[in-house]
Amino acid sequence: MKTVDVHLGERSYQIEIGRGLLHEAGAKIAPMIRRQRLVVVTEETVAGHHLATLVNGFNAAGITSEVLILPPGEATKSWGPLMQTVEWLLDEKVERGDIVVALGGGVIGDLVGFAAAILRRGVRFVQIPTSLLAQVDSSVGGKTGINAPHGKNLIGAFHQPSLVLADIDVLDTLTGRDFLAGMGEVVKYGALGDFAFFEWLEKNGEALVAGDKDLRAEAVRWSCQMKADIVARDETEQGDRALLNLGHTFCHALEAATEYSDRLLHGEGVAIGCALAFETSAKLGLCSQEDPSRLRALLRANGQKTDLSDIEGDLPDAETLLALMGQDKKVVDGKLRFIMAREIGQTFVTADVPAQDVLSVLKEALKARS
Ligand code: GLY
Repeated sequence: MKTVDVHLGERSYQIEIGRGLLHEAGAKIAPMIRRQRLVVVTEETVAGHHLATLVNGFNAAGITSEVLILPPGEATKSWGPLMQTVEWLLDEKVERGDIVVALGGGVIGDLVGFAAAILRRGVRFVQIPTSLLAQVDSSVGGKTGINAPHGKNLIGAFHQPSLVLADIDVLDTLTGRDFLAGMGEVVKYGALGDFAFFEWLEKNGEALVAGDKDLRAEAVRWSCQMKADIVARDETEQGDRALLNLGHTFCHALEAATEYSDRLLHGEGVAIGCALAFETSAKLGLCSQEDPSRLRALLRANGQKTDLSDIEGDLPDAETLLALMGQDKKVVDGKLRFIMAREIGQTFVTADVPAQDVLSVLKEALKARS
């Protein structure tokens, strides 16, 4: 088992990464609660795969549990299911000393974390992320929330979990596509801040995608360690934490252009967005021309989406994509902020990216599709 410490003073917690953690969750949470009772919120697909193992482990640890099962999918991250969750937690008489367990991917983690943040002005919660994307990104760092009709993640709170349990075995039930989407966030870490991790992924990426458990655990550990270090420096995203958004301005425009549909999963958009961010950096002379090619080569070797041509169906023109970027949360005083690269593993936040250059990168990327 591997552990990563998130150092946030009295809100510090551990991320445990390893095999069989789902069954051991009860024993790990038991010392953290006074009354041996837990409430679990999950969704139908995840419940079908993993709920029995979790609850059996609770029983073995002498913990009783109640479970709320929500529908799967992004639509669950909205007001209706949030209200349902909060009212269910109140019906279950969850008190300040109790712990709420979020079992699922990013949607469940974000929704349940937010419900825990606002219930009785804040109760503790434990994240048990079941997707690769949630294990390396959304379950760590305390960003919780729901989507608004105006855009994604616009309603929320920073509320840190008390423990994160990343069970590598649960990744076996993901579809190949979902696993590869999570790899978008994994490669992002190497690209944004650690060349050694990037090289490690060049060496081990294909084997870990193929199913090597030790390599998967190491990739999750390395990613979580990088995120923990950044979050410890800048919990509420006043500075460095924005680096975690490498590729996300492009990604959000592509997700909006594909109407947040199955045409493009978030992690796929992150991979393509990272490649476009490096392309833009090279165009501005900030990094070498070889860097975007090397990043694309790694993504391609893993079987990940890399280019706009990997997105099926029509895409709007470059001007429309640029306008969609203007909806991004990172717009400050009307200026888009980008994460640009000096080299692989060296990135920085800047508002000094001429729209004309972004437009020409998008035009070239769109031309390559035809
Ligand atoms: N997913 C980006 C962050 O947690 O800041």
